[in-house]
Amino acid sequence: MNNPTQPGILCAKSIKKSFRSPDGGSVEVLGGVDLEVPSGHSVSLVGESGAGKTTLLNILAGFELPDDGSVLWDGVRIDKFSNSQQARRRAGFMGFVFQNYCLVPELNAVENVELAARIAGKFGKSARERARELLDAVGLGGRMKHLPSQLSGGEKQRVAIARAIMNSPRIVLSDEPTGNLDEKTGESVMNMFFKLCSEREVALLLITHNPDFAARCDSTLHLSAGKISK
Ligand SMILES: Nc1ncnc2c1ncn2[C@@H]1O[C@H](COP(=O)(O)OP(=O)(O)O)[C@@H](O)[C@H]1O
Ligand SMILES: [Mg+2]
Repeated sequence: MNNPTQPGILCAKSIKKSFRSPDGGSVEVLGGVDLEVPSGHSVSLVGESGAGKTTLLNILAGFELPDDGSVLWDGVRIDKFSNSQQARRRAGFMGFVFQNYCLVPELNAVENVELAARIAGKFGKSARERARELLDAVGLGGRMKHLPSQLSGGEKQRVAIARAIMNSPRIVLSDEPTGNLDEKTGESVMNMFFKLCSEREVALLLITHNPDFAARCDSTLHLSAGKISK
């Protein structure tokens, strides 16, 4: 649980980001965002389309640079790392679940999950076994060798969730994970996602348009006009 003397597992301080418009002007998307995700907590991030949620997630993940401000992973500023150091740290620290699954089409379910371990430099039998266990845990024990093209949307997202958890990350960042799923499938995928994260004490930052999923998180942050409010 959150200890007020400890910084959150993921922190952002005074993040600013503007994009250049095609017409030559500049649009400020983030105007000084502060955010903290306590270890093991789930935090939802909500806001209208275009509010800058995905931009903020990309900055928190180190995929994109802010114009100003800092991001800390487990208390350490990520701008101190080289790109390759950052990539190595990210592989063990963060998992990702995106709206469009982002599975490798040529790899089957178990290979897609195992890929997370390979990226973190772990190979061999134990990685394969863990990938199988995780696919079992997400209810896909009978789909190990299916390619993404042979899986339903809900099944693909379950594979992506297993992959996100594969390296026992401290936090999973998820951008509208049910955006492509029907209501019933989205509900069952999220039930499993919340359960897996809470059982394994993995923090979750969840971008969602679904008010029920947002409310199931320990806290909710609203992004509007470039600022966060609670
Ligand atoms: N690479 C980019 N270049 C220019 N504008 C961008 C870029 N990425 C995002 N934007 C703009 O930033 C705003 C926020 O986008 P985004 O973070 O995707 O919002 P959300 O995820 O909340 O829907 C939008 O107005 C979008 O047009
Ligand atoms: Mg978005």
